[in-house]
Amino acid sequence: MKSIYLDHAATTGVSEAVRESMEPYFKESFGNPSSLHSFGIPNRKIINESRVSISQMLECEQEEIFFTSSGSESINWAIKGTASAYPDKRKIISTKIEHHATLHTLDYLEALGYDISYVNVDEFGFVDLKHLDSLLCSNTLLVSIIYANNEIGTIQNIHAISQIVKQHNCFLHLDAVQALCHIPFSIRNLNVDLISFSGHKFHAPKGVGLLYKRKTNRIDPLIHGGDQEYGHRAGTENVAFIKGIETALREGLHHLEEYQNRLNSYSKYVINALNDNNIDFRLNGPSIDSRLPGHLSLAFRDLDGHDISFQLNRHGFALSTTSACDSKSILPSHVLRAINVDKDYIKGTIRISFGLNNTMDEVVLFTDKLIELLKKVH
Ligand SMILES: Cc1ncc(COP(=O)(O)O)c(C=O)c1O
Repeated sequence: MKSIYLDHAATTGVSEAVRESMEPYFKESFGNPSSLHSFGIPNRKIINESRVSISQMLECEQEEIFFTSSGSESINWAIKGTASAYPDKRKIISTKIEHHATLHTLDYLEALGYDISYVNVDEFGFVDLKHLDSLLCSNTLLVSIIYANNEIGTIQNIHAISQIVKQHNCFLHLDAVQALCHIPFSIRNLNVDLISFSGHKFHAPKGVGLLYKRKTNRIDPLIHGGDQEYGHRAGTENVAFIKGIETALREGLHHLEEYQNRLNSYSKYVINALNDNNIDFRLNGPSIDSRLPGHLSLAFRDLDGHDISFQLNRHGFALSTTSACDSKSILPSHVLRAINVDKDYIKGTIRISFGLNNTMDEVVLFTDKLIELLKKVH
């Protein structure tokens, strides 16, 4: 039986165009981009061109884009590198609904003596702006916020957040790993200082990320060594993956409108079918119109999300309960706890995240099977 993949928030497959664009750099064009000969120089040119085209697509300057190995590396670098470059300020603010790449980085800094505070979020996961304003002070260095939440799909109002943060003269970092190629935005309009991205959420390979850093801000390196990435991140560049993430970004932005329309229609279909069949469920996070396209976190009363997802997996539907990194934990996820999901529902959560490769026929098959299973157990 062929499985249907409904877990695009965990990762996506490499697209054909991305694979083709990377192929030459595994074999014939294998030169080290720092080598000053006919194998190296063309690869330096590829990196430079990719950086320019990515900066144009994201609307920033080329010196503001750095290639990294992952979203996790970008987040670690943004937070630790800023803390290290501005040692006089010791306070950092974030939320309890961040990815562990942020939360564990902040735990690390807290153990080093930093003062970390967490701004409240409401029942849908939106940042409490008044609370944020009250937490900011002259000693606050950085605010780090997850732009689009991987577990509950909440898309933050970055303009409102940035307005408050900038009044207090602080840096703002966004974890935009789930946002890029999922919702439209331009760095020029966001007024933020640092943004982390990861390629494998939009059909580039796993193991390549980007960090945007405002040109005028300092950052200390996380990885010391050679002078790659303007001397800010050492290590021989992964030319194939750099080319891959550029291609994936171009493709993703090209399809963005279709992506939003089609995936929102899939989400609406599932919600309407559950309602029509009188299924007792909650949608964790905001309504379809203000959440990530094709992203559903559904909670069923008195059921176990692991059981439901296991059953669906047995019938050929690959999905998860929460984030892939948390999926082995038996505790309800930190994100669901932070938005206070009702205790009768919290354990019965599954996460479905559609992609452009899914068809409406697949969505219908999945929804029928879900409803059939739920009717059996209730
Ligand atoms: C919101 C968010 N931030 C950060 C990460 C980490 O990215 P990577 O897997 O590239 O390290 C993920 C991946 O699941 C994510 O969903």
